[in-house]
Amino acid sequence: MTETKEILVLPGDGIGTEVVPVAREVMESVARRYDVPLRFTEGLVGGIAIDQTGNPLPGETLAKAVEARAVLLGAVGGPKWDDLPTLQRPERGLLGLRSELALFANLRPALLFAPLAAASSLKPELVADLDILIVRELTGGIYFGEPRGIETVDNERRGFNTYVYSEHEIDRIARVAFDLARKRGGRLCSVDKANVLEVTQLWREVVTRVGGDYPDVALSHMYVDNAGMQLVREPKQFDVMVTGNMFGDILSDVAAMLTGSLGMLPSASLAADGKGLYEPVHGSAPDIAGQDKANPLATILSVAMMFRYSLDAPAAADAIEAAVNAVLDAGYRTGDIARASADVEVRLVGTREMGDQVHKALEELP
Ligand code: IPM
Ligand code: MG
Repeated sequence: MTETKEILVLPGDGIGTEVVPVAREVMESVARRYDVPLRFTEGLVGGIAIDQTGNPLPGETLAKAVEARAVLLGAVGGPKWDDLPTLQRPERGLLGLRSELALFANLRPALLFAPLAAASSLKPELVADLDILIVRELTGGIYFGEPRGIETVDNERRGFNTYVYSEHEIDRIARVAFDLARKRGGRLCSVDKANVLEVTQLWREVVTRVGGDYPDVALSHMYVDNAGMQLVREPKQFDVMVTGNMFGDILSDVAAMLTGSLGMLPSASLAADGKGLYEPVHGSAPDIAGQDKANPLATILSVAMMFRYSLDAPAAADAIEAAVNAVLDAGYRTGDIARASADVEVRLVGTREMGDQVHKALEELP
């Protein structure tokens, strides 16, 4: 019998506490159906962890995360904790998990579900069949570089961060991206700012060198400002994009919006051994929290990625994605993706109802 795998569930803050339980239910039923033995534990992270323990990443949570094969996380943060100093904020909980678990490879697919073409801010013909994968380096770059801080010099405060990458960090994320490009459309675009920043000159050099091992993948390079523009001008020119931590943060939000809503975008953050943290790209959305309005599909699709990348159960992943497609096809929409489309009657639903519809669609799959 397959060994039981441990899943740590961290709802976090805001709409995280609404979308995660819905996604967990989907996960449990799919796991049963596809014989993937799982054991669940829960933990605190983010603002709720600050409130209850004084620490955005309590030791107990970290210990459970280290034990787990995969972590399902909702979102962290909210206005309540906005005035805390940077290193005590809810976001540190997430950043701490990424770095302590060495989750250096962040996969953010921007996939347009055909029934949502009308929800995109771009013309349907520009986004029809869009399928981009952003590979973001997640444990280095300016997010973690030292020195960092705010200091007082000559009676004036000055803030500073360090944008730094070592060759091995660039090499390993490039290999992840090349491997994925090889399994997809065979094209990789590396995004940098090599016309200005030395750190990204090194980035470009190392990615090019790694490319020597992947003669079957077409490698191109693009400056980040141009990449932002190209994403909204002609997004379908891209297959896989690889970039550093901060550029990836920005470009993945842009790419997400192309698909209709931030509420649709899942993500996987992987360590070298396939252990992973899975979370929707949207944040805690305090403006709609607690109202049963949040779109749970990004979290449900993150669960699909978990089955694929950490649990070695691709059939379960395919089933979830097919069920989401079926639900969208049938016209079910949360508010964020409700923009009317010509060929389907829109049925506006809340978080829980959307989850129920995914369940139903799963049961009806052939
Ligand atoms: C993301 C988020 C995080 C990031 C925040 C919440 C720290 O924006 O996952 O994209 O900047 O990485
Ligand atoms: Mg972000």
